[in-house]
Amino acid sequence: MSLYNDAESVLISKEQIAQKVKELAKTLTEEYKDKNPLLICILKGSFIFFADLIREMNIPVEIEFMAISSYGTASTSSGEVKVVKDTDKSLENRHVIIIEDIIDTGLTLSYLKNMLARRAPASIKICALLDKPDRREIEIEADYLGFKIPNHFVIGYGLDYAQKYRNMPDVCILKKSVYS
Ligand code: PRP
Repeated sequence: MSLYNDAESVLISKEQIAQKVKELAKTLTEEYKDKNPLLICILKGSFIFFADLIREMNIPVEIEFMAISSYGTASTSSGEVKVVKDTDKSLENRHVIIIEDIIDTGLTLSYLKNMLARRAPASIKICALLDKPDRREIEIEADYLGFKIPNHFVIGYGLDYAQKYRNMPDVCILKKSVYS
């Protein structure tokens, strides 16, 4: 069975992603030179974007990983998240960049950003690969964004459905028959 059997179509190709990652990394390289930024990868969905992005950044960076899980569904909760794995280092006086794969309702990231902002970083910004503005329930925007996308269920390049398809090189639209 092919990895792509459950994909309706490719929404963003690996070539388009690679080009956008380069552009984002160039911007971050310029804006964070001499700042020794601390980039936080929010597991699991961001891991591929994160790994590609930092390798295109031409300045020293430090990295951290956080794993979070939501309490209940995003549409019924306040976005409150449980920290399953926290950063090892303090964020105090650091220039922090949260790296996310996707902003959907915005609840997760809004909660997370507020939580991390209380740790006295010098600055805190969000870099996200994908944004689904149609789904937003709370006002939050990425400071650095790859693509705005329509409201489709997307998989690949780190994003999953039922923990599968994260290893697809392209971002694809999942067939409706798979989840309905
Ligand atoms: C995804 C994504 C964000 C969140 C966005 O994570 O990585 O953290 O959902 O949704 P929201 O804007 O509606 O809050 P997910 O919970 O799917 O976990 P994963 O990264 O481990 O796949």
